[in-house]
Amino acid sequence: MSTPQKLYEGKAKNVYTPEYDQEYLTYFKDDATAFNALKKGTIKGKGEINCTISSALLKLLADKGIETHFLSQTSEREMLVKAVKIIPLEVVVRNIAAGSLCKQTGLEEGLTLPFPLVEFYLKNDDLGDPLLTEDRLKILNIATSEEIEELKNKALKVNQYLRDFFANCEIILVDFKLEFGKDINGNLLLADEISPDTCRLWDSLEQDTEKRVLDKDRFRRDLGKVESAYQQVQKRVLTLIEKLGNT
Ligand code: TMP
Repeated sequence: MSTPQKLYEGKAKNVYTPEYDQEYLTYFKDDATAFNALKKGTIKGKGEINCTISSALLKLLADKGIETHFLSQTSEREMLVKAVKIIPLEVVVRNIAAGSLCKQTGLEEGLTLPFPLVEFYLKNDDLGDPLLTEDRLKILNIATSEEIEELKNKALKVNQYLRDFFANCEIILVDFKLEFGKDINGNLLLADEISPDTCRLWDSLEQDTEKRVLDKDRFRRDLGKVESAYQQVQKRVLTLIEKLGNT
């Protein structure tokens, strides 16, 4: 077997080319960044937790008919995926107002939105990941009108499923970020990860607005107890998956 070559060093993951064509091996790190890498740190055990949660959720979504890049979890921190060319977009879905939506619009944090809001941000740290309009997407040649519709529909389908799933874990899915990629045949696949790094997750059993935070906002906002929040999400997700498997 040839030695895997590092293809890409990301902020939270590295990507390697393994033995076979059209497959990548992603390695989940404990490194954490926020505010376009201005804030840097480590969340102990995060790599294993995010790899495990992402693998479980991508598998569940695939079972629901949503095509993803996931192939298998090959170790605690490694996920084998289909090779895709990532579309340089952060597709954000919001159910409840939080984060940049509140900062930019003045909406009150915690307000339930009248419908799930799908937004596109350009994946570009140097430009500060700006919010894009659909016309900007077209002008930048990132996606055609048909592809924008497809991305929106897929993101809303993921939201529908994940919102219910997390609700059954006593977790409110406030918002989350997805990335998509195209495989060698041009198929649009859900890619990257779905984890407490990429979702806002609030404990529905907790009323306190700081204590309820179970995601990377604990790191972004220096709320403490970051590791135990990630562990809590993993525990609830795996418990529900086991329960679903037994029914
Ligand atoms: P925002 O409110 O900061 O725009 O974030 C919306 C969602 O996207 C939230 O769940 C966190 C996630 N997110 C990422 O996964 N990566 C990022 O770089 C940013 C800015 C947000």
